[in-house]
Amino acid sequence: MSSLIWLVLLSCSTLVISTKNSSDSNASQGKSIFILAGQSNMAGRGGLKSGMWDGYVPPECQSSPKILRLNAENKWEEARPPLHRDIDYLKACGIGPGLAFANSILKKNLSIGEIGLVPCAIGGTQISEWRRGGPLYKQLLSRAHAALQGGGIIRAILWYQGESDTRSEEDAKLYKARLTKFFTDIRSDLKLPELPVVQVALASAEGPYIEDIRKAQLGIDLPNVKCVDAKGMKIGYDGLHLSTEGEVHVGQMMADTFAQFIS
Ligand SMILES: *[C@@H]1O[C@H](CO)[C@@H](O)[C@H](O)[C@H]1NC(C)=O
Ligand SMILES: *[C@@H]1O[C@H](CO)[C@@H](O)[C@H](O)[C@H]1NC(C)=O
Ligand SMILES: *[C@@H]1O[C@H](CO)[C@@H](O)[C@H](O)[C@H]1NC(C)=O
Repeated sequence: MSSLIWLVLLSCSTLVISTKNSSDSNASQGKSIFILAGQSNMAGRGGLKSGMWDGYVPPECQSSPKILRLNAENKWEEARPPLHRDIDYLKACGIGPGLAFANSILKKNLSIGEIGLVPCAIGGTQISEWRRGGPLYKQLLSRAHAALQGGGIIRAILWYQGESDTRSEEDAKLYKARLTKFFTDIRSDLKLPELPVVQVALASAEGPYIEDIRKAQLGIDLPNVKCVDAKGMKIGYDGLHLSTEGEVHVGQMMADTFAQFIS
């Protein structure tokens, strides 16, 4: 038989397999990778009391063999809270939205295989510190590349940041342009120009310009960027950080919003 016919036969059989098992095809591509970035409310401060985590893990944040975490040594391990303990290591970490997000995704039966969470958030960081070429940006990129070793696809960036940009009028004014550029740069450097982003509109702030930042977040005009609104979520001990309950709620809202990209 000529090689042309072999080629035709080969592509036909590939086609049959991939259409027949379309619901399994995503799972067989390996891990579904999610990048978690931003500042303290993404890193997680839920359950902190006098500077220490109380250790309470709500049922929505339980561990599972299907939920992995890329640790600070770029190794996968079963995820357990606090997800950012060795990344945002200069601060005390507690419950964030990551595990509630992952458990909620699993419950939706989206056929996206096991979940790989890549924590990258650092408390107290402003959007200008996430600019292209800076240390936070570089760390995010290098952890994303490390996560892809061994297979899988990056499904989305989960982003919760902006509290520290509410202190100055100038930062608030520049926020929308800086955030738009950050999303655009990261997608471009990951070579995923349409990568979904699920971001959070602020529930709390460090300064007076919260409404300006929220308006910027809710008004981002980029394809495949969706925003969940954390306004009204339960805030914890210090008036700035979400409580465990608030973080669980935000994680679940992010999962509901991510699911809109899949269906
Ligand atoms: C389709 O998926 C099922 C269940 O996971 C598996 O048993 C079967 O071998 C798959 N078929 C093909 C053609 O890949
Ligand atoms: C598989 O992944 C693609 C791209 O991420 C998505 O569009 C599609 O809906 C997914 N299919 C299933 C069955 O989850
Ligand atoms: C997901 O699958 C499980 C087990 O098959 C089933 O009990 C559950 O109702 C499903 N959930 C949804 C949202 O379809």
